[in-house]
Amino acid sequence: MSALKIRVYPDPILRKKAVPVDSFDSELEKFIEEMFIVMRKEDGVGLAAPQVGVSRQIAVVSYEGKNYVLINPKVLELSGSERREEGCLSVPGVYEEVERPSHVVVEAYDEKGDLRKITGDGFLARAFLHEIDHLQGKLFIDYLSVLKRQLIKKKLRKYRKE
Ligand code: NI
Repeated sequence: MSALKIRVYPDPILRKKAVPVDSFDSELEKFIEEMFIVMRKEDGVGLAAPQVGVSRQIAVVSYEGKNYVLINPKVLELSGSERREEGCLSVPGVYEEVERPSHVVVEAYDEKGDLRKITGDGFLARAFLHEIDHLQGKLFIDYLSVLKRQLIKKKLRKYRKE
């Protein structure tokens, strides 16, 4: 059973810059396992640690049967551009088109502390960039117009009170 709870916009932790991970231990592995559990339970394809109230540079992505762990990720390459609908577990019920690069190479540590280079194309590039944004305190709705963002904020304030 997992005790992790999804934080919903405009929760201030979603705006904080996450701190890099500096020790790789069993506690970290356990936390990552729990992140995958919550992500699946909520039907997400990606989850960043700040979304469960932990301001650390950890994100997980699951796509086409493959699991990706991104710890202290750095974007090495970006190219192309693609517009697609996007959503976020922290912005429930909101789906909007966002333009993002269609190819990305990321360098990140995995849960064992091994540094890896991971390539993402299309949807996977989008998922990586969306989660890496979370670690910088950035949300996909930041790419929308101010008016649209205000409407979303209003809607979610109501949602949080219910
Ligand atoms: Ni998200």
